[in-house]
Amino acid sequence: MPASVNRQILLKSRPEGAPGLDNFELTESPTPEPGEGEVLMRIVYLSLDPYMRGRMSAAKSYATPAAIGQPMVGGTVATIVESRNPKYSVGDIVVGNGGWQDYALSNGSGLRKLDPTAAPVSTALGVLGMPGMTAYAGLLEIGQPKPGETVVVAAASGAVGSVVGQIAKIKGCRAVGIAGGTEKCRFVAGELGFHACVDHRAGDFAKQLEAACPKGIDIYFENVGGAVQQTVWPLLNDFARVPVCGLIAQYSATTPMPGPDMVSVLRKRLLLRGFIVWDFAARQADFLRDVGQWVRNGSLKYREDIVDGLEKAPASFLGMLQGKNFGKMLVRLVTEA
Ligand SMILES: NC(=O)c1ccc[n+]([C@@H]2O[C@H](COP(=O)([O-])OP(=O)(O)OC[C@H]3O[C@@H](n4cnc5c(N)ncnc54)[C@H](OP(=O)(O)O)[C@@H]3O)[C@@H](O)[C@H]2O)c1
Repeated sequence: MPASVNRQILLKSRPEGAPGLDNFELTESPTPEPGEGEVLMRIVYLSLDPYMRGRMSAAKSYATPAAIGQPMVGGTVATIVESRNPKYSVGDIVVGNGGWQDYALSNGSGLRKLDPTAAPVSTALGVLGMPGMTAYAGLLEIGQPKPGETVVVAAASGAVGSVVGQIAKIKGCRAVGIAGGTEKCRFVAGELGFHACVDHRAGDFAKQLEAACPKGIDIYFENVGGAVQQTVWPLLNDFARVPVCGLIAQYSATTPMPGPDMVSVLRKRLLLRGFIVWDFAARQADFLRDVGQWVRNGSLKYREDIVDGLEKAPASFLGMLQGKNFGKMLVRLVTEA
């Protein structure tokens, strides 16, 4: 039986610069009832992702902004608790976009059933979900890694970066991570098995990065932009590839950052190509097959940073933007699933 009250975290206002807790509001409303063709989902895991910073803004982007006064948007793993849709039964576990709330309605579009015996269901929001797919498609389609090449990725302990470096290794490349702090670097080089990991907060970061990439950089998987990008740029080899995946260091900037040296883009014939994960939707079956197998046989590890309680979502989201998460950031709303 669903609870009678649905807690929701609404977008209260749009941030100027770095977002704060006052941009969110926790409210309670009656749990909705599914109409014909709909299901009611009880959300078990809510994914927190950097793209949500963009959805908080009204600025023109590839996706519609989150609406003021509406629940924040977000990927979720949920249990179907009521169904008036013949494709879904009570008890089914589904991945979809339920948003920051305890319960959500869906007409079934955009939902995918999960098999909890195949992998922990939370992985559908991380290593076997959108972030994993981003890493897989961006590295293989745009990066085109070849054995012996050097691949550098920042936010290397995170949801996307951790998968990028491990796939690079599987493809015979030298995987060099960049992460914030010694603990994350130890995890990336030790647990995940990257060949090296450099702390971008260290005073001699540039020197350390150069030492970790003795043959220069063939693929820079761009996750962060900002100061890290400026340090990486001079180390790019001729014909290097830069899958431009994310620029988290710049998402809350109020003045433009100095851009990359575009003269090098011309002189070294560098290829830069921005992408959105769903540009490669046709490769999702390949991704689930390959990464699913690598996770099951232990050649690809993943780490999750789980906090309990919907009310922790705003603070955890803001913490993630400052690097406080360690692994794929998730909120657990229900502990028994
Ligand atoms: N194009 C697409 O379709 C797509 C899809 C998914 C994700 N993305 C992008 O991929 C990137 C990584 O996303 P994720 O989900 O894997 O997040 P994540 O790495 O799990 O979490 C974000 C991490 O970014 C790092 N970071 C934050 N501010 C930074 C700064 N100023 N300089 C350097 N690093 C900083 C922090 O790690 P450290 O403490 O290690 O620095 C933080 O832990 C984001 O830019 C995101 O927008 C793009």
